[in-house]
Order: sequence, then structure tokens, then C-alpha cells
Amino acid sequence: MHQIEEILQKMTLAEKARLCTGATHWKTVAMPQYGVPSLVMADGTSGLRLQQGSEDKEENDLYENVMFFSFDSEEALARTIPSTCYPAGSALACSWNPELAREVGAAIAEECKAQGVGMLLGPGMNLRRHPLAGRGFEYYSEDPALSGEMAAGMVEGIQSGGVAACIKHFACNNADYKRTWIDSVVEPRALHEIYLAGFERAVRKARPCAVMGAYNKVNGVQACESEELLTHILREQWGFDGLVMSDWVAVKNSKEAFRAGLNFQMPPSKSCVDVLVAGVEDGSIPAERLDESCRQILKLVLHYSKEGKERPQVDWQAHHQLARKAAAQCAVLLKNDGVLPLGPGVKKVAVLGNLAKKPQFNGTGCAAINARCPDIPFDELAALAAPGCQLQFVPGYTADYRTDPALLAEAAKVAAEAEVALVFAGAFLPPEDDDFNRKTMALEPATEALVEAVAAVQPNTVVLLYNGESVAMPWIDRVAGVLDLWFSGEGSGRAAAEIVWGLQNPSGRLPVTLPKRLEDTPAYLNFPGAGDSHFYCEGIYAGYRYYDKKRVEPLYPFGYGLSYTDFAYSEPRLSTRELALPGRVCFSCQVENTGSMAGAEVVQLYLRDRCSKLPRPERELKAFCRVELAPGEKKRVELWLDSRDFCYYDPACGWVADSGEYLLQVGPHSRDIRLEERLQLVSDRAAPFAMTTDTHYTDLLENPTARRVFYDYLVEKGLLLPEQIGPALDEHFKVIFWGMAQHLDGATGDRFTPAMAEELTEKINAALAAER
Ligand code: BGC
Repeated sequence: MHQIEEILQKMTLAEKARLCTGATHWKTVAMPQYGVPSLVMADGTSGLRLQQGSEDKEENDLYENVMFFSFDSEEALARTIPSTCYPAGSALACSWNPELAREVGAAIAEECKAQGVGMLLGPGMNLRRHPLAGRGFEYYSEDPALSGEMAAGMVEGIQSGGVAACIKHFACNNADYKRTWIDSVVEPRALHEIYLAGFERAVRKARPCAVMGAYNKVNGVQACESEELLTHILREQWGFDGLVMSDWVAVKNSKEAFRAGLNFQMPPSKSCVDVLVAGVEDGSIPAERLDESCRQILKLVLHYSKEGKERPQVDWQAHHQLARKAAAQCAVLLKNDGVLPLGPGVKKVAVLGNLAKKPQFNGTGCAAINARCPDIPFDELAALAAPGCQLQFVPGYTADYRTDPALLAEAAKVAAEAEVALVFAGAFLPPEDDDFNRKTMALEPATEALVEAVAAVQPNTVVLLYNGESVAMPWIDRVAGVLDLWFSGEGSGRAAAEIVWGLQNPSGRLPVTLPKRLEDTPAYLNFPGAGDSHFYCEGIYAGYRYYDKKRVEPLYPFGYGLSYTDFAYSEPRLSTRELALPGRVCFSCQVENTGSMAGAEVVQLYLRDRCSKLPRPERELKAFCRVELAPGEKKRVELWLDSRDFCYYDPACGWVADSGEYLLQVGPHSRDIRLEERLQLVSDRAAPFAMTTDTHYTDLLENPTARRVFYDYLVEKGLLLPEQIGPALDEHFKVIFWGMAQHLDGATGDRFTPAMAEELTEKINAALAAER
């Protein structure tokens, strides 16, 4: 700290302004005169994406920048340094295992250090609001608690390895249409409870070094220029103490951005430097703002720069094994009519679809990894097959995913002659475009045609899916099994083979609801926005909160996933049945593996609030835990809730919880509650009641203090007799739909004057204040 202050004192205004934007697209400005090195940063969310030599390249040739603007063209990928491709966010979240995210994060940090990278631009952690969002595959879940926990695990892992993490894209970056100017219009309650809550959890729990402001606007203000988001919420409310940086070219007005609390604008911008110098000189940007930005940059750079540091050797074998382990935990077995796992008795298996030989386990854009060592599903299936089992491969569709009738017919023939058909199908992202959202939930048509053709001739058809976001499964009733591999990285081929042959027990659980139809999704009517606005009309009812409230039957519910074994839940226990806030409560129960194969269960705790003043979802995920159990093994699982878990966001006054009864529901997914316990909450954070002359009687009379002062006053003024007061009078008052002053004015024949209304209101508010 001392060192930073010393440097700051020596820096000129021009130097300070220069430090607040990059030296190149991927590097901060070095200041050797002060002993300040530069820091290299790189994408991305499921591994390291670093283009050869890009750190030092000045990208100022317009023609080249336009012509070669691509992250995942073959040319771009060829320039990307090979690294381990771990599961994309949407896949990793299926593990419901923050500890796994921690391991993956630490491994990515090793790969960063080996390349001299000091900050990773990830993880991405926006909420998955809609299945067609182009970058949904990078993000974790439709639920903020799960998103926040996974992101916290990833951040802790990356930073434990000595590399800075940067959570992104803050906030409400939930669609990729008109990416940099769409206005996400979100009501305050949904903003805090749903869209910010995951970020808040990750910030409080894992203390990421940096937060990246999003491209979009939030409620009319560019995210990177929003003082509300960058200063009031992030720093003041959540206590964030790191660097606030922009997404690449997300700042439209540098002056507004730095005034709002941005510290670092990327990529390099000369105009940003000029604006900062002029702004400090003319007083429109407080000098302290600029100092604070430099302080944050220096803190990060001095701690995390890898310049001149020894570069570790990466144990690529170990990283590949981790990628396999992660992929295995991410695969979700959605359907199994008993066909899986394939036993040693199976002698003839058809493996269909080009994806079995050329898997698409990786996302695109700035999350595109040049995978070092992809496992090929077909090869892994063959390597693990029981002796004497014959595997026959047919591409089923062309290498560029087109239907070829001859390939289709051949696949159907081979499938019909086999005992089991494994069909590889998938859904990929549209080509880079200014509207990067997916256009449909359907699989690539040629892969879907293959599923249909095979299912028509082979009852033991198992579909293996590669997809970054949810897909439609119109063929679900015609197949015997579905294993969703998601974009689970370079180990997905091995993971798939191990699960198919029963060497691994699938344990992935859905971090989103899979809808039956796109039309059933919560944001269907508004996604991806109209004109320049994107209204989040479903409010707090995102994901399962919507399906549950509207009683919409999903294809597969939030939290769902099958196993090859069974788990029994028993002996629920609450650490207390009456909780006074602030405080914590523990729900514990026994979970037993009652089957014959070792496996992992994800125990999920949902809270149902029965007493809130504002409407609440049917249930909300508050805690979860992945537990591994040998056959017959039993473990007691503990899930903790703290004060905040009981709260909802009241737009009038912030986080509140009401006293009353709550249900703690535990089970293997959101629609399968096995255990339920009641808890009485005594809250210290109920919404404060404030009286106005226009307050309605229901609100007034339900507050005991307000009620007492109100009746005392009316008696004192001779408007009521004491014996008239009681529950019957309360109920009649509550039927009246005018506010207090207007009603009493008419109902007392003008004996209750406006001055009395003011006086009474003041008395009530004084009595309420005295209580606090
Ligand atoms: C993306 C970010 C990424 C940055 C640098 C932007 O276009 O939105 O996620 O980190 O580019 O590649």
C-alpha cells in the first residue's frame, strides 16, 4: 500500500490517465520509471484463450481488424495457443460442485502462469434467462445461488493459483442482440434478487480481483457508466474492493464511466486518456477518482503481473485427467429406460453421427479454446468396450452437418442390425453476427434427422448430445436414453464412454429448467427485446420460479438428473425450530445409496416462504451439497441457511424478511421434495412501516403500534368510544378502500380535519420511530 501511495505521488496527471487504459489489447501500461511492470490478461471462461503474440500487437490497422475480426475461424484458432479445454460454464454448473470449479480454476491458473498471463477474464456468470441467448453456454445457471456458488468456486481456484479473476459481465447481459446498446429494463426487485444476487454472492464469498462491466444498458444507463451499479451497489453495498474494468469497447463516454466508478477502460483508447486529463483539469472528474483508479490498477499489477517471473511447467497429463473428471461430473443422464449402462453382454453397438469422431465440446467467440488433447468419443468407446463387443461407426450426416440420404439410410441399416444405437447429435451457435443469439432450440437439423431415422428402427436408441444451451427433444418418447454432454470440454469423449459402459455413474443435475416448448419459457414474449429495449417482464419469476408459479410442466425440471443407483432420504433434523434473526439454521438429513453402484447425489434445499408481504416464488434454492456414496453407504448431510437466505428485496426499503412460518424442503430436484420441515422465523428485518395521510386501513391496522395510536387518537377526539374498538371494527375498516385522511374527512362529517390527519400521522410515525 505504502509503495502504491509513493508511486501515485510521483505520477503526473498524464501518466495516471494513461494507466487507466491498456497498452495493447491484452496488456496494461508498464511504467519502468516507477518499477511498475505490465500485466497480461486473457480470456476466457472454460480455459485459457490466448492468441500467439497478441499481447504486444497494436491492433490499429482498420482493414485487418475488420477483415480478420473472428475468434473462432480456423485461422483464429490456429493462432490460439493450445490449452486444456474444460467444461463451459453451462456444463460445469451441471456438476453442482463448487469444489470442482475450484480445481478447474486452479488448473487454468497454472496454464495462465505458464504463458505469463496475470489475469483471466472470467468466469462469465450472468443468469441464464433464456435458452436462445448466444452466450448462455458461458454462464452457469438460471438460479442466482447456484451461479454465485459456482462462480465463487472458480474465482477461488483461479486466485489460489496466483492469477487474478475477473467476473463478468456486470450486469444483465442476458441476450446477444444489439449487444452494445440494448437496454435491459429490469424492475428493482428482479434486478437485486435474480440478476445481481449471483454476482453479490461471488463478490462477498470469493473476493474476485476484478469485475467487468457489461456491454448493455441497465434501466437506461450504460452498464459501464452506471454509478448505481459500479459504485453504490458493487462497492458500497457489497464491499467490493477490486478493479472495475470495462468489457472491450463497452465504454461510450469515458468521462461518465470514470465518474461512475469505472477504473480501467479496455481496449486501449487514446481518447479516454485525453478525456481523463481534460476532465481532471476542468474539475468535471474528481482527481481522487483518477487516483483511486490508479490505486486499483497498481494493486492488481504489482501483485499479479508475471513479468520477469518464472513460468511453471504445466502437467498436461494431470490437466487432461481433470478435464475428464470434470466432464464426467457434468454429463446429465436425462432419460434411461434401462438401456444404460451397456453391460458385457452387449455384442453389437452402432455408433452414429460424425460428432462421435469430431466432437463439438467447446463454445465459440471469446470462449473458444484451442483444445490441446480432445478425447474422441468413438475411440474411447472402442477402448473401453468389453472384449468381443463390436462397434460399428457410420457418419450419419456430412462433416459440415448436412443431411445426406445415403449416410442416413446406411446409419438406419446399421442401427437396425445392432443391439444398441448410440446417436451423437448436437446444437451449435450461429456464426458470428451482430445478432449472436440462437434462432431456435432445435438440434442441427441433420443430427435431428439422424435421431429420428435411428429411433424409427432401433428401440434401444441412446442419444448423446453436444449443446451449450437447452435444446428441444421432440423425439424424447421414441428413444430409450438421453445423455446430455453439453459443451463439457476435451474430456467429454472419455466421460461419455465411461458412463455408457458403466465405469462412471452419471451425477450431473440440470442447472436450468428444460422446457417442453420454447413458448413455455419465462421470457418468451420479450426475448431478445424490441427496438432498443429488452423488458424483463417476468420479473422475479426467472427459470423454475416461473414454471412452478404458473404450474407449467417442464420437459425436465431444474435440478434434475438420473443416476445408475438410487438414493433414500431420511431423518430430517433442524438445528432449531424457531430462528431469531440474525442467526443461522442447519437442516440435516441422512442420504443413503440404496443401489449397487457407487454414485453421487446432489441434495438440494429449497425455501418456501409462507408469510411474506410481497408475492414470492413457490420455492427457491438456498443451499445444496454433492455427496458421494458407496453402495449401501449413508451420510448425514448438513445444509445451512443464514439471515439473508430468508430475505427478499422490497423496492421500497431493500432486503427484508417477515416473521412467520417457512418451509425448508429437501430433495433431489425442484419437483421432487422428499423431506419438509417447518421453521418459525422471528425477523429483525421486516419492512419498516411508515404512515402517510393516504395510508390504507389494512396496512395501518396490521401494525400494532400504528393501530393503538390511531384508535387512541380517535377516542381522544371523540370520534369513537373505547368499547367500539375491537376486531370487528378492524375488519370493517379494512373493507374501506380510501386512504385514512380522505375517508375520515367524509365519514366524520368534517370533524376530522386535514390538520388532524397530519397530526395523527406524525404521532404514529413518532411512536414507530421510538420502537426502533
Ligand atoms: C467479451 C468479453 C471478453 C472480451 C475480450 C468481449 O467482446 O464480451 O467476454 O472478455 O471481449 O476478449
